[in-house]
Amino acid sequence: MSETISENKTFKERKSRDKGVIQDHRLMELHLYPGNKCNRDCSFCTVFGSPKGWSVEYREEHLDAALRTVMLDNVGTLKFYGGEPTLNHENVIWAIAYLRQHDFQGAIVIYSNGIQAERLLAILESDPLSKTTTSLNYSIATGDGAPQMPRKSLERLEQYEQDHPGAIAIGHPDVVDSGRGVDPFTGEEERSQESSRCPHCYPVLTTEGKFHACPFAIENQSPHFQLGTVDDDPKTVTENFNAFFHWLDTVHQPYAEANQLAACTVCWKHLDELPTPKFNTTSATAQSAH
Ligand SMILES: C[S@@+](CC[C@H](N)C(=O)[O-])C[C@H]1O[C@@H](n2cnc3c(N)ncnc32)[C@H](O)[C@@H]1O
Ligand code: SF4
Ligand code: SF4
Repeated sequence: MSETISENKTFKERKSRDKGVIQDHRLMELHLYPGNKCNRDCSFCTVFGSPKGWSVEYREEHLDAALRTVMLDNVGTLKFYGGEPTLNHENVIWAIAYLRQHDFQGAIVIYSNGIQAERLLAILESDPLSKTTTSLNYSIATGDGAPQMPRKSLERLEQYEQDHPGAIAIGHPDVVDSGRGVDPFTGEEERSQESSRCPHCYPVLTTEGKFHACPFAIENQSPHFQLGTVDDDPKTVTENFNAFFHWLDTVHQPYAEANQLAACTVCWKHLDELPTPKFNTTSATAQSAH
């Protein structure tokens, strides 16, 4: 049996930061999502990643909206995920260059399965501020719950982390019941998380031009998650994000507890039974009202 990363401990877990921080209508963190096209199709994948998935490139209008909505100083963080960012690494490299040319000083994190190791490292190396790091899919890094990445990729990434400590972290092992979710998951049982508490993630900007309240539920089109579009001002988007958090605490969590359901199961299967958060009017809702 091959040695796994969990045995050799090369990669560390990233520390989570404060939740829901907003200052001057800017979020401390924002996820960027270009679709669920992937070179894998993990049984548990929250976004339904697959080679047949959709993908739309980052363009200036998406990045301009991100630059208006996230803190631009050292505190801000932009997180690229998907799908698999290395499938279109040229577009990610272009996006990082654009963000740096437009005064984004914060950290950038690339969520990746690491299979295309050279492309992933080219993304990290492209950042003129050297503040782009990556977080690897736990299952694909360790082989617990998904086929492990090729040994050559693993060794390349391990060597890079040894040469650049902190550049490559390993993702969280928990599997939540969202998307394909916990039922098809084949890894160690203690890794599935049936918590009734939502982890209160930061929201997502998609390349379809929408702000969505949850990275785990990104393929769920329910109105409960729709915070606005790239045409809305940051005040509307961040106030709607606050309204979503209020709804999580006052409507969603009491429902999960009363019905003894995992938090993500409520979002995936029971939203029809719950009122929507009290959102401000967005350009999308204004258009549909006419
Ligand atoms: C959706 S993937 C996209 C980026 C890349 N393809 C990857 O796998 O890292 C981002 C992260 O979500 C995690 N993830 C996927 N499905 C999940 C689930 N049901 N519960 C918790 N995390 C999940 C993955 O392990 C990965 O760390
Ligand atoms: S978890 Fe990542 S690697 Fe696995 S299918 Fe989903 S997007 Fe692809
Ligand atoms: S409980 Fe809902 S909002 Fe929270 S992480 Fe799960 S799917 Fe997302």
